[in-house]
Amino acid sequence: MDDLIFLGIESSCDDTAAAIVAGDRRILSSVVSSQTALHADFGGVVPEIAARAHAERLDLAVEQALAEAGLGLRDLSGVAVTAGPGLIGGVMAGVMCAKGIAAGTGLPLIGVNHLAGHALTPRLTDATPFPYLMLLVSGGHCQFLRVEGPRAFTRLGGTIDDAPGEAFDKLARLLALPQPGGPSVEAEAAGGDADRFDLPRPLLDRPGCDLSFSGLKTAALRLRDRLVEEQGGLRSRDRRDLCAAFQAAVAEVLAEKARRALDRAPVPVLAVAGGVAANRAVRGALEQVAKAAGAAFLAPPLRLCTDNGAMIAWAGIELFRLGQRDGMDLAARPRWPL
Ligand code: KG4
Ligand code: ZN
Repeated sequence: MDDLIFLGIESSCDDTAAAIVAGDRRILSSVVSSQTALHADFGGVVPEIAARAHAERLDLAVEQALAEAGLGLRDLSGVAVTAGPGLIGGVMAGVMCAKGIAAGTGLPLIGVNHLAGHALTPRLTDATPFPYLMLLVSGGHCQFLRVEGPRAFTRLGGTIDDAPGEAFDKLARLLALPQPGGPSVEAEAAGGDADRFDLPRPLLDRPGCDLSFSGLKTAALRLRDRLVEEQGGLRSRDRRDLCAAFQAAVAEVLAEKARRALDRAPVPVLAVAGGVAANRAVRGALEQVAKAAGAAFLAPPLRLCTDNGAMIAWAGIELFRLGQRDGMDLAARPRWPL
């Protein structure tokens, strides 16, 4: 079975991605075509624009992934594709592309849950055995998953409103910093005093692993408005201190909930995925929590933490090994809880 070679296709948000991955965990190629520039003027991903761009770019991404791997379609063992959850136009474009390839070649078709793709990444990068704890933390997701098998996930908790990446992006917008907001806020925070402003730690006083970020965002908005009113504008020091306080609050909340998740369901590894996993304060806080719980901390390289085709190809390989085969009736699903 270890000579499997899968194509993985991902188009559920604003990245058009295709990758070739081997059953022995080698990534033979990984192409990600970002649409950030297309959506920049709109302050967020526009579903219609995203769907069209995916439809235009998918074939090229697949062609490039094959070329970079030095392979042709006949060398593949299967085609895996994100079948949801996500923006439905983009998911449909990906599923149609994968069906076309499967129909034309007779290759097996495997529909993959996007969240499972993220959640199984530690097995692609580090051959992590089950079970482990995964914190998925990006612009669209925030949840704690106990990963017990390629199709066995227990959700221990998650956000009840915004995802943290979304909150970072909104804060950046409030402070007129460039998008995506996470890296801008982190850069500002580096020179700031996290203790000057007192921001809330939402849901910290409640038991369990659920999280909330919208109150934090509102508190930051009020603070900004108060400073503008009192001083007639924001000074660069205010911006730095506000970013530092915000980042510290996010890191503290994520770390405390991770501590509870590890306490409730002890596992040898705490892994993290998603764009917010790039944040050094967040990473550092999670690493400490893992250490204190006697668990290893695993953060895959950022290109595999954010949306990509390799995680979908890999999840496809794992599901193929379990016997999953999908037909031409594979549906694109906007919602698909794990
Ligand atoms: O996983 P991702 O690329 O896309 C999805 O949301 O699926 O995550 C993007 C999010 C954005 O909200 C971005 O602001 C955030 O991850 N992000 C960060 C950092 N880098 C990216 N947030 C905090 N600190 C960072 N260094
Ligand atoms: Zn994602």
